[in-house]
Amino acid sequence: MRGNFPGRILRGALLVLFCAGATTLAFATTPPAPKVELAATPPMGWNSWNHFHCGVSDKVVRAEAAAMASDGMKAAGYTYINIDDCWQGKRDAQGNIQPNSRFPDMKALGDYIHSLGLKFGIYSSPGPKTCAGYEGSYGHEAQDARTYASWGVDYLKYDWCSAGRVYQPDQMEAAYKKMHDALAATGRPIVYSLCQYGYQRVWSWGPSVGANLWRTTGDISDHYWAMAYIGFGQNGLERFAAPGHWNDPDMLEVGNGGMTADEYRTHMSLWCLLAAPLISGNDLATMTPETLAILANPDVVAVDQDPAGNQGYRVWQEGSLEIWVKVMADRSRVVGLFNRGYTPESMTVQFSQIGVGDTENVRDLWERRDLGTMHDSFTATVPRHGVVLVRIGN
Ligand code: GLA
Repeated sequence: MRGNFPGRILRGALLVLFCAGATTLAFATTPPAPKVELAATPPMGWNSWNHFHCGVSDKVVRAEAAAMASDGMKAAGYTYINIDDCWQGKRDAQGNIQPNSRFPDMKALGDYIHSLGLKFGIYSSPGPKTCAGYEGSYGHEAQDARTYASWGVDYLKYDWCSAGRVYQPDQMEAAYKKMHDALAATGRPIVYSLCQYGYQRVWSWGPSVGANLWRTTGDISDHYWAMAYIGFGQNGLERFAAPGHWNDPDMLEVGNGGMTADEYRTHMSLWCLLAAPLISGNDLATMTPETLAILANPDVVAVDQDPAGNQGYRVWQEGSLEIWVKVMADRSRVVGLFNRGYTPESMTVQFSQIGVGDTENVRDLWERRDLGTMHDSFTATVPRHGVVLVRIGN
């Protein structure tokens, strides 16, 4: 039923007056400073664990940082230099965490990393001990957060490890929130990376405890089957990724020697389609040009860093063949044709499968070559355990 006419006019006039007043008020006060969006695109960097494990030291970290700054990795967008487990020593009499003897001066190390235009990451656990048995942050959360901030830390990976000994499963969210609040209280922007292997559907509550990224799986290893199990297993999590909040299928193994170049290109292609954090895990100081070409291909990295932050998903599967698509900010589609089998296969993506028009431009991203305009479909031969990655429609 229609409302009373004069009454509607009066309500309309009041609304206009209210809005005008609100606008005047808004402009009369100083506008708030723009919020710094941490991890607006998936974080890119390096972490010590996959290659060095507990063999990490000040010397190693400086060498990796220097390599990143000069070898093309920084130019490609890699920024964070993250120390994983095994840096911790004992606490002092006041309970302040000290690094062990392999790290003589954390503040100086942070300063060095920053002097190269890079950022500094560190690692701890909500439990009493880390996974490798070093000192965790249990009972010292606020104190540790302040220590990290005083060292210039920009990124914390917080690994569940022994926390199951002191917390019940239903206290996990609160334990993670506690460290987030402690980091926030320091006033320093620190990317917050949850590592609890995907327990309790972490993707559904990660943002609410302040996480910028959360591991979705157990640990990766440098084998095709392990990488493929994790990477191809991410389908379905795409609705939980967004700018500032990313699913993390674990760090990269590219360049560590356990896979072929085709397998590493599959690894990198999948991670970029998934809008996954790109945390290299190899020795940057000694990597080959072939490894650098995989980690730093600008066309491929741009897929990961697309500002829309859409996570890709599988559109087709038949036996060991899979087609994945990611919708880019400009509405073009990046398509991965993956062959998980043992022999080369011809694969075709129909344009109707990926929501583009009948006639589209196609670019091969690994080759960095425009292939021209195609009609209705694109076909390529895909090597064993390999990928053909194309951008269609721009
Ligand atoms: C766990 C994590 C790894 C690494 C190790 C360090 O296994 O999942 O990424 O941080 O701990 O001990």
